[in-house]
Amino acid sequence: MKIGVFDSGLGGLVITKAFIDKMPEYDYVYYGDTSNLPYGEKTSGQILSYSLEAMKFLISQDCKIIVIACNTANCVALRYIQKRFIPTYAKDVKVLGVVIPTAEESISSATNKIGVIATSATTRSHIYNTEIHKIKPDLSVEEIASPLLVPMIENNNFEQANELIAFYARQFHDIDSLILGCTHYPLVKKYFREYWGDSVKIVSQDELMSNKLKDYFFRHPEIESKLNKNSDYKFLVSNLNEHYQQVASRIFSKASIQERK
Ligand code: DGL
Repeated sequence: MKIGVFDSGLGGLVITKAFIDKMPEYDYVYYGDTSNLPYGEKTSGQILSYSLEAMKFLISQDCKIIVIACNTANCVALRYIQKRFIPTYAKDVKVLGVVIPTAEESISSATNKIGVIATSATTRSHIYNTEIHKIKPDLSVEEIASPLLVPMIENNNFEQANELIAFYARQFHDIDSLILGCTHYPLVKKYFREYWGDSVKIVSQDELMSNKLKDYFFRHPEIESKLNKNSDYKFLVSNLNEHYQQVASRIFSKASIQERK
């Protein structure tokens, strides 16, 4: 039984890398839905249908724990998957998200106002606003969509992302913490950190999710004990070309990606 990680594209490799760095013993299957990228600009119906298809695929690959790394899929599809799909389709599979752990982490450092930068679909859902206020209702939350950033990163234009990040960063007012609410943004987190210096804490999912998963295993030894420990890693995408190959090796040099059958 393996750990599955799902993202709309290649950004989720950065979280998978963090899992593998911290917990190399397990077997992992990464699945990036590169044929349907970007999810952030799609309708909720499309995002739900792609996400369900991805769940079926990862379950067919013997994944018993699936982390939906894609924030956009978290806000549209996670609840439906956990409450409706899994109980009827694969009762013994656990599906975990990234939004609640990220909201929890951001609260530990914020005193006044938390910024969230994410795709249009994520900011439209106000999922971070809702989850943060469930824990700490008095914090202010400012959510800004950055639709141009994912295409720029997927096009391997990491350096040019710098100017675009400054453009989006200027739109936030008086934040003391910023959630990078999209799997792709950890790849350019140094530009966010350069922009604000120490005055804003950057909450990046690649730095927090492996501890959260480890903690989940600690609390659920009955699940952890069933996982294979052969250090077997598979990196699959729905559409593969030369360009994706280059982006993947830039994100995670050990990841040799293949197109799914
Ligand atoms: N992976 C998506 C997320 O985390 C962003 C990329 C996309 O728009 O597909 O929100």
